Amino acid sequence: MESNNTGVRVIIVGAGFAGLTAAIECHRQGHDVEIYEKFAELKQLGDIISFGQNAGRIFHRWSNGSVTERMDPLSIKNKGFNIHKYDGEFIINQTHPKPPKESPIINGHRGELHAVVFNYAKDELAIPIHLDSRVKEYFETELETGIVLESGEKISGDVVLGADGVRSKARELVLGYEDKPKSSGYAVWRTWFDSKDMLADPETAHFCNQGDTFQGWIGQDVHFLFSTIKNGSDCCWVLTHRDLADIDESWQFPGHLPDVLELLKDWDPMCTKIVSKTPPELLVDWKLVYRDPLPTWVSTGRRIALVGDAAHPFLPTSAQGATQAMEDGVTIAICLRKAAEKAEAEAKSQDAITAFQEIRYERVKAVQKTGETTRDMWHKTDWVAVKTNPDLVKFPREEWIHGHDAEKHAEEVFDEVVKGLREKARI
Ligand SMILES: Cc1cc2nc3c(=O)[nH]c(=O)nc-3n(C[C@H](O)[C@H](O)[C@H](O)COP(=O)(O)OP(=O)(O)OC[C@H]3O[C@@H](n4cnc5c(N)ncnc54)[C@H](O)[C@@H]3O)c2cc1C
Ligand SMILES: *[C@@H]1O[C@H](CO)[C@@H](O)[C@H](O)[C@H]1NC(C)=O
Ligand SMILES: *[C@@H]1O[C@H](CO)[C@@H](O)[C@H](O)[C@H]1NC(C)=O
Ligand SMILES: *[C@@H]1O[C@H](CO)[C@@H](O)[C@H](O)[C@H]1NC(C)=O
Repeated sequence: MESNNTGVRVIIVGAGFAGLTAAIECHRQGHDVEIYEKFAELKQLGDIISFGQNAGRIFHRWSNGSVTERMDPLSIKNKGFNIHKYDGEFIINQTHPKPPKESPIINGHRGELHAVVFNYAKDELAIPIHLDSRVKEYFETELETGIVLESGEKISGDVVLGADGVRSKARELVLGYEDKPKSSGYAVWRTWFDSKDMLADPETAHFCNQGDTFQGWIGQDVHFLFSTIKNGSDCCWVLTHRDLADIDESWQFPGHLPDVLELLKDWDPMCTKIVSKTPPELLVDWKLVYRDPLPTWVSTGRRIALVGDAAHPFLPTSAQGATQAMEDGVTIAICLRKAAEKAEAEAKSQDAITAFQEIRYERVKAVQKTGETTRDMWHKTDWVAVKTNPDLVKFPREEWIHGHDAEKHAEEVFDEVVKGLREKARI
């Protein structure tokens, strides 16, 4: 399905999942779209990333399912999530029915999945992706908007989408001030490594030699998640714990294995076994920062919108950060098309931008909140209550999150939302 050309010129800053999805969806809806990205070449960075069914539904529409087909071999395929108390007591094996092919769950290596999406946009759809293009300024007038690159080159269009991540420069322009992140009080030690040392140890081999497995251990203010991936050939773990270090931004520092082992000393010895297999140079110490929800994602001239992490960073316990970034892109592409189809000429793109925010804002806030509630649910577990009801520690998978179809929803509510916004503006 590809729509007729709408003539709407969309400039996207950032080629992460937010920027790429927005670009692919704008292309599907018939807009002229280009991406400007500061990295000079594609590198496979990061480790585990999760996409819910509400993202799988979006991926599946690309190239009639061939994008999800490419992601499938890269994605975790375990037969259940084994949840333990920190001391090793087994609590429950949480299973889910396999999602339909049209809305798969995809969990895998961020760099590998990112490469699939990047190459699809660039090679198959021929969307211009300008690398080594750092944006240093944004501008907007009554009639247009645009960006200025570090090279001095100026590019203008009808709409700019700031998909430039947690340290967004676009956000400064939209808010009119620099928005400082706060410490969330937590950090994550995380890593991804080859399974060979796990396979060589008879006590840990079973995590890797029967396909993928997924284990979790929960303690006071700490949780440890361990997964094997790609038929058990790779390992990945994340350990979330209290960390009050005051830092400027959520970014990566080298981690120190002895610190992790110290924290786990009274835990199930299996946790120490797993952590000890980690190549020390591959351990990352990732501080989790927090931001209050921004008052707005839209510039005063209503031609610049923030999408993805630039607008709304998520805690990993929501497992929805990248997925919500994708829902943004789908929504804005539909809004721009629906607005372009309207008969009256004035303020079309601006209406689309405001409608985008109106459609997304409350949903995003509600999903963001689940990152805190799930973390707190685990970190403050009442083990006496769990004895009678082990379901209490299951990882929530809510239908209102996973069942959502961002494309269908935007199609359905756009006209009503625009009408509502116009009435509000008249009052
Ligand atoms: C290197 C890296 C590794 C990550 N690893 C993980 C991980 O392992 N697990 C996980 O869950 N999440 C990870 N994330 C975060 C995750 O990708 C995002 O939370 C989520 O996918 C939403 O993506 P986004 O597109 O909004 O932001 P991002 O993925 O952060 O993408 C923003 C993009 O904008 C570009 N950019 C920023 N400023 C400018 C500028 N001035 N001009 C031009 N381009 C600019 C950046 O280079 C980047 O490519 C990682 C992000 C990055 C950038
Ligand atoms: C899309 O995929 C389905 C199932 O894989 C196939 O039956 C159908 O012919 C494909 N459609 C197009 C247009 O390629
Ligand atoms: C968890 O349950 C599923 C479904 O019953 C089963 O296939 C799987 O082997 C179980 N996992 C473990 C580790 O017991
Ligand atoms: C997965 O790995 C096991 C050994 O760990 C092997 O027997 C099996 O053939 C592999 N399956 C696939 C699909 O590669």
